[in-house]
Amino acid sequence: MALVRLIYTSKTNPAFAGNALEQILESSRVNNSKQFITGCLFFNKNFIIQYLEGGAVQVNQLYNRIVQDKRHTDIRLMDYAWIDKRLFAGWSMGFAADTTATRKIFVNYAETDSFNPLNLPVDAAIHLLRDLKDFAGAHQTGQS
Ligand SMILES: Cc1cc2nc3c(=O)[nH]c(=O)nc-3n(C[C@H](O)[C@H](O)[C@H](O)COP(=O)(O)O)c2cc1C
Repeated sequence: MALVRLIYTSKTNPAFAGNALEQILESSRVNNSKQFITGCLFFNKNFIIQYLEGGAVQVNQLYNRIVQDKRHTDIRLMDYAWIDKRLFAGWSMGFAADTTATRKIFVNYAETDSFNPLNLPVDAAIHLLRDLKDFAGAHQTGQS
């Protein structure tokens, strides 16, 4: 079956702090592996961007759950497209947080180093997420 990618942005709720991230990554590890969904999540204290890829039915079902999740708000679909090949094969849900190192990566795609996905064109978002994946992989973190 053909593969799709879905990219959305959202705003973090105060509820996103604490162990919410841990819980989300744990759910992702379990559920995404079973559904052959792969992807990556990047966030700072204000915003989230998530890239999901897999079968259309599976990705759509997951997105329907995610948009109802109270741990974030203001969810905006950025891109939905058929793809030939996965970008995040082997990553049930890679993630990267806001650090000095990831800010340096982000500033390559924006006028400041303060991550705001609302100003990001789709192509830039995809390149950014690929760079973050390479960074996380090189540092042996973020893969799940
Ligand atoms: C920003 C964000 C990203 C999420 N990403 C995923 C994901 O990739 N996979 C997933 O199963 N749940 C994800 N969730 C959690 C779902 O909304 C939902 O809580 C979860 O899938 C429920 O499954 P569980 O009962 O097995 O934990 C995410 C939630 C948020 C707020």
